[in-house]
Amino acid sequence: MAIRKVGVVGCGLMGSGIAQVSAAAGFATVVREVSPAIVEKGIAGIEKNLARLVEKGTITAGAQAETRGRLRGTTALEDLKDCDLIVEAIIEQLPAKRELFTALDALCPPSTIFASNTSSLTITEISAATKRPQRFVGLHFFNPVPVMKLVEVVRTIATDADVYEEMVVFGTRLGKTAVRAHDSTGFIVNRLLVPYLLDAIRALEEGVGSIEDIDNSMKLGCGHPMGPLTLLDFVGLDTTYYISQIMFEEFHEKRFASPPLLKRMVLAGWNGRKAGRGFYDYADAAKPKAMKF
Ligand code: 3HC
Repeated sequence: MAIRKVGVVGCGLMGSGIAQVSAAAGFATVVREVSPAIVEKGIAGIEKNLARLVEKGTITAGAQAETRGRLRGTTALEDLKDCDLIVEAIIEQLPAKRELFTALDALCPPSTIFASNTSSLTITEISAATKRPQRFVGLHFFNPVPVMKLVEVVRTIATDADVYEEMVVFGTRLGKTAVRAHDSTGFIVNRLLVPYLLDAIRALEEGVGSIEDIDNSMKLGCGHPMGPLTLLDFVGLDTTYYISQIMFEEFHEKRFASPPLLKRMVLAGWNGRKAGRGFYDYADAAKPKAMKF
């Protein structure tokens, strides 16, 4: 396998998780953010996660030190120029991603493979900002990245078959099950998950059940780890709203249309757990209380 050094752009929730699993899997990993404060915050989160894994006996103190030793934070994009693979996990906006990859394309040798962790944008459209669409894939991870066992490996019509297979192997090296998906908006998971989450909001709007009863139904009736409204708060209502708009624009199907309640909650800033309020109030994070509408 040719991948030795991995660059990650973005050290937020997803980027820091990707950097953690990459370093833990033995790859020299450089993670880049726009300011030293954001780099420090992301790396501190990874250190906390690793310390928790040692406390629980999941990894040894030696493995913790080795993982940390393979990980480096930076604010300079140039520090990624000798990476074999660069995974992008920045803001979910097409112009920002295209601008980043154009800069990376000029910086990196032609051999470097590029990947985007986008959840709903088209890989083809991002890769068209570079001169290497044949060395461009989607690597879509799930939150929390160190825990969730899946990565969707996405190929476009331009992706080279060998590069694609190398990325499937890379996903497996990270300890994930790598599923193969075509570059269709939402790939596999969000194609199925987004209509389900939106339907849960529609069920609430129509008075089919209360917040707790809708969540308990899917948790206890179907064995899901979280009910759909809790999961919406976890993923972020703003994120889900944004994804649904992209998917609706692509497919023009009602199942991807945002319910009015979702739009209103996002307008009100009730974006879920990170905002302290969504379908639940997180004033006491250990005991979220269902909101009354
Ligand atoms: N980072 C690292 N580890 C974490 C973590 C985090 N943020 N949150 C939880 N964990 C670990 C815990 O340490 C614990 O590890 P252990 O089993 O070794 O002790 C394990 O996960 C379970 O955590 P808890 O016991 O605290 O809590 P739960 O049992 O409730 O599990 C959960 C938490 C893993 C988040 C679980 O509720 C779950 O799987 N929820 C569904 C998550 C999901 O569906 N994610 C995908 C969202 S969709 C997406 O990301 C795609 C995007 O495009 C929208």
